[in-house]
Amino acid sequence: MKKHIVLLPGDGIGMEVTLAAKDVLEAVAEEFDHTFTFESKDIGGSAINNHGTPLPEETTSACRNADAVLLGAVGGPEWDNNPSHLRPEKGLLGIRKELNLFANLRPVKGFSNLLHASPLKREVVEDSDLLIVRELTGGLYFGTPSERRNNGQSVVDTLAYERHEIERIVRRSFDAAMLRRKHLTSVDKANVLESSKMWREVVEEIKEDYPQVTVEHMLVDAAAMKLITNPAQFDVLVTENMFGDILSDEASVLTGSLGMLPSASMNEKGFGLYEPVHGSAPDIAGQGIANPLATILSAALMLRHSFHMEHEAQRIESAVNQALEQGYHTSDLHIPGGSRVDTDKMTHLVIDLLKADS
Ligand code: NAI
Ligand code: MG
Repeated sequence: MKKHIVLLPGDGIGMEVTLAAKDVLEAVAEEFDHTFTFESKDIGGSAINNHGTPLPEETTSACRNADAVLLGAVGGPEWDNNPSHLRPEKGLLGIRKELNLFANLRPVKGFSNLLHASPLKREVVEDSDLLIVRELTGGLYFGTPSERRNNGQSVVDTLAYERHEIERIVRRSFDAAMLRRKHLTSVDKANVLESSKMWREVVEEIKEDYPQVTVEHMLVDAAAMKLITNPAQFDVLVTENMFGDILSDEASVLTGSLGMLPSASMNEKGFGLYEPVHGSAPDIAGQGIANPLATILSAALMLRHSFHMEHEAQRIESAVNQALEQGYHTSDLHIPGGSRVDTDKMTHLVIDLLKADS
């Protein structure tokens, strides 16, 4: 199959991990006789430096013409004091909005050799296998007004949703639950927020169409606690943009490191942008030690969801599992008796195992 992939490496370790995932995709192409073409574009801080804007028009149009997009991460202290229109995050929020990527799927599944890499007890994390479905183009991160007022003495952010925006993400989460263990936890703050009351109403309505799925409503504060005390109770968890952002970083603790969590951001037509859950990690950027596995696993999600290459996706996931089983890990993780490797070495281990596993 022939596919055109746009790479948006971004800033900091974003560049390092995106190149790693590209190498893995090239190995997949070679192994399975596909043709993947790549085009790299600026976003975030690198785009501010090179084009004076975090989201150049040529980046957006290249993404629109691609079969799928792979993004690293954006941001860093260099741009922290910029005015809000010149912040790297504007590029990230902008591309999600431009491409209408409303559904962010974040699978959280531990690899067996990383069970002790989590600070949580083994028996707590052991059976966790959940999917966080985060609404990505509405809610608190996009609502207006969002501004300082009264000479900077007051401030406002807005949590706004249209009913149809809630309906489509909720439907997406029911569809995902149907392919899994058929349990949906809808997370909100309905005891306080009007937007959450509507969210709950919509879930109650749509659940009529999915009689096989059991539905549970949970307040976000309780969900934050249950996620690390009894993660096995979750199958699919659907929630608002900011709640999903926070809960998924928290859920990464189950897998041992933020450097392990991939994600897929999809629009209504099935177009996808794939990116690790982590950020640009300025504290370790440029050292060649970042964990590339979240981005490599995001590339696997690309093969699965955008290209319907399930077998190829599984080969990547299996190679990652084997590398960890053999005790290899980057510096963000620890495997007792294992060997610590850098980004490059981990990437090449995955590629070698992928090629050997036929
Ligand atoms: P972060 O996710 O970049 O890093 C948090 C911690 O995890 C750091 O100690 C970092 O070294 C470590 N870490 C993250 N990914 C890792 C990996 N692959 N391998 C090894 N260690 C890893 O979050 P932080 O530090 O809060 O934010 C840094 C910058 O990233 C900020 O400018 C922030 O705005 C941006 N950011 C961007 C995101 C994106 O582009 N999707 C998401 C989150 C933050
Ligand atoms: Mg985040």
